[in-house]
Amino acid sequence: MGTVMSERKEDTLILAIESSCDETAASVVKNGREVLSNVISSQIALHTLYGGVVPEIASRKHIEKINQVIEEALKEANVTLDDIDAIGVTYGPGLVGALLVGVAEAKAIAFAAKKPLVGVHHIEGHISANYIENKELEPPYICLVVSGGHTHLVVVNDYGDYEVIGRTRDDAAGEAFDKVARAIDLGYPGGPKVDKLAKEGNPDAIKFPRANVEGAPFDFSFSGLKSAVLNHINMCQMKNIEINRADIAASFQKSVVDALLSRALLACEEYGVKKLAIAGGVASNSAIRSAFKEACEKKKIEFYHPSPIYCTDNAAMIGVAAYYEYLNGTRHGWDLNAVPNLKLGERI
Ligand code: KG4
Ligand code: ZN
Repeated sequence: MGTVMSERKEDTLILAIESSCDETAASVVKNGREVLSNVISSQIALHTLYGGVVPEIASRKHIEKINQVIEEALKEANVTLDDIDAIGVTYGPGLVGALLVGVAEAKAIAFAAKKPLVGVHHIEGHISANYIENKELEPPYICLVVSGGHTHLVVVNDYGDYEVIGRTRDDAAGEAFDKVARAIDLGYPGGPKVDKLAKEGNPDAIKFPRANVEGAPFDFSFSGLKSAVLNHINMCQMKNIEINRADIAASFQKSVVDALLSRALLACEEYGVKKLAIAGGVASNSAIRSAFKEACEKKKIEFYHPSPIYCTDNAAMIGVAAYYEYLNGTRHGWDLNAVPNLKLGERI
């Protein structure tokens, strides 16, 4: 019995919960790097009806699904709550009603099972997704976080130590993908659909702007690009020119890739870092991945990215982030609340 106990004690198991937007997710992660289960109940089909996430519906669905998703995550990992060392949960940023479901659930479980509670920043989760399949990756490195709600260029100095050096001034990269997809009738969520259609188009067919932000070389701006796409469509309609949706998708995507890549490479250069990671839903974009891979090879920079399943919202990434927060001594009390506009690096 002694050996079994001591073997198990060496491992740290986190039960993680994620409900910040439209995925209800739970996961069990071992020692911050090994995913024992990763259960995701997606609401995408439901929200597609409305062309975007409806917050009230998202919260209600989280409540319906969360217990089942957690039970499945424990079962799949072949563990019980007794084996778990801490409960990790996303407490911001995100939709307040959606976040509250996960936070309340995590508090209830942690209280009942007498386990420590570790609140996690959603973006810290996205960044940490890189540790799952890149066992050798360790800070410091640069990470570009591109999701539906965020576009951040981050220097990861250490586990839990982040410096945001660039961010979007208007739309997030994913938001731009979703809006352009809507404009060319591809539906929601637009990112994967633009990605697919772009493969059939010419990326040099239309010259869209690569917006720079004066005096802020690491910041992004995508609303001008989105307007340029809409103007192009209007112009075609007015002149009775047939709209080539594949060319629009490919040219728009190229403009986004150029904006992201140029700033990420500049950050590596200015900060003297030879490791670059990408994270967030948009990081699964095939053009972004191949352009980053090629450029990093040329510049002798190590390039890291998670598999698509760990790019979009999931709880495994929250489990990884919670593990490092847990090691750093982060513990939250029963007053942990959802913080919809939580800043990266801010502790509440
Ligand atoms: O990280 P995520 O699941 O949710 C947020 O935290 O926002 O990101 C969702 C976003 C959506 O805007 C979706 O269109 C975009 O990621 N996305 C993509 C691709 N797959 C998902 N964008 C471009 N190309 C893709 N292949
Ligand atoms: Zn996300």
